[in-house]
Amino acid sequence: MSDQLKEDIAVGLDRARQRTKTLTEAVDDSELTTQHSPIMSPLVWDLAHIGNQEELWLVRDVGGREPVIGDQIDQLYDAFKHPRSNRPQLPLLSPPESRQYVDDVRSKVLDVLDCTPLEGRRLLEQGFAFGMITQHEQQHDETMLATHQLRSGAAALSAPTPPPPAVDVAKLASEVLIPAGPFTMGTSTEPWALDNERPAHNVDVGPFWLDTFPVTNAQYLEFIDAGGYADPRLWSARGWEHRQEADLAAPQFWQRDGNGWIRRRFGMLEQIPGNEPVQHVTWFEADAYARWAGKRLPTEAEWEKAARHDPAQGRSRRYPWGDDNPTPERANLGQQFLQPSPVGSYPAGASAYGVHQLIGDVWEWTCSDFTGYPGFAAWPYREYSEVFFGMDLKVLRGGAWSVDPVVCRGTFRNWDLPIRRQIFAGFRCARDAEGGR
Ligand SMILES: [Fe+2]
Repeated sequence: MSDQLKEDIAVGLDRARQRTKTLTEAVDDSELTTQHSPIMSPLVWDLAHIGNQEELWLVRDVGGREPVIGDQIDQLYDAFKHPRSNRPQLPLLSPPESRQYVDDVRSKVLDVLDCTPLEGRRLLEQGFAFGMITQHEQQHDETMLATHQLRSGAAALSAPTPPPPAVDVAKLASEVLIPAGPFTMGTSTEPWALDNERPAHNVDVGPFWLDTFPVTNAQYLEFIDAGGYADPRLWSARGWEHRQEADLAAPQFWQRDGNGWIRRRFGMLEQIPGNEPVQHVTWFEADAYARWAGKRLPTEAEWEKAARHDPAQGRSRRYPWGDDNPTPERANLGQQFLQPSPVGSYPAGASAYGVHQLIGDVWEWTCSDFTGYPGFAAWPYREYSEVFFGMDLKVLRGGAWSVDPVVCRGTFRNWDLPIRRQIFAGFRCARDAEGGR
């Protein structure tokens, strides 16, 4: 068991590293040290930060070993010490030094993994610390992907185009009724779940309708064409203020082309596929669209109930389709494409209620603020989640095409500022059902 677990851990660490290499070798070294956007780190910072977190937790804490190149670099790569905008001015490791550093850390980590029994400390149970670091690297890979999307210049990444949808969505109901009743939210058993997903607890949810699919580009275009960006009545007060200040008129990366729109995606200008979930919208835009559609954003509990609750068995599943891990037939995850798949592409991934594409494709904004569940306990460090509670942050659910399966579960929670839209975020809408809430 432990040998198999260690083998799985090594495979997961290597998959993350291959992805990190793809993202940092796709551009030359001068681009690695460039800041492509003030809201993002230079890619070389992410690279060495990945190595530094891995060193702190696995080499020094788990392994009890000496610093790999001295501990004076720790503060450079502490995300809380330096805002992203200041990171290019720091005396960072150069690209070759960073590559050498992450390689040296990894070889020590594989040795620690080899000679450490995965027991005796909570941090080691079921390989949690290794799982946490694998997830951390994959999360930074997703951040680096957002940096790639923001950078100007010719395309540096490529991937196949998703195939056409497997089902004709016009033949399916556009909304699904989720009846009233309690369900189990969060988890106390998922071995690599992070502290904010814990503990499992009962939540009573009123009846509601949820969109069968995420909102598509074609649907979003109707909102634009109907003057959605010009009508303050559709926006929250703060949303309208931001819409004006930031001069929002369409999703990020869309640009006018005659009377229509095209988009820039990883350095390529292209037509906008109408049947693809919309992405790169702020929470404020999602909220305004929902109001225009006569709906609202779902709460986080509604989203998770629609995704995980199995009414026949009266329990929550790990994923919408059941307890088995994601596969390419069930969800668009893991950067196999560089975009969401059309709606109707994953009938095998539908939830017990018949809601599609809850996992993969786009992160979905919910109307909920990020906070701890009842019984929350920070672990293993406050800076992962707890320091963000009670700030102006909205929860996103479901993971996007850019998310590796290791960082994607029915319980996984992401969060961001309501003005952010460089992330691969879209949304779907909900509305109250008969009987109200
Ligand atoms: Fe980090």
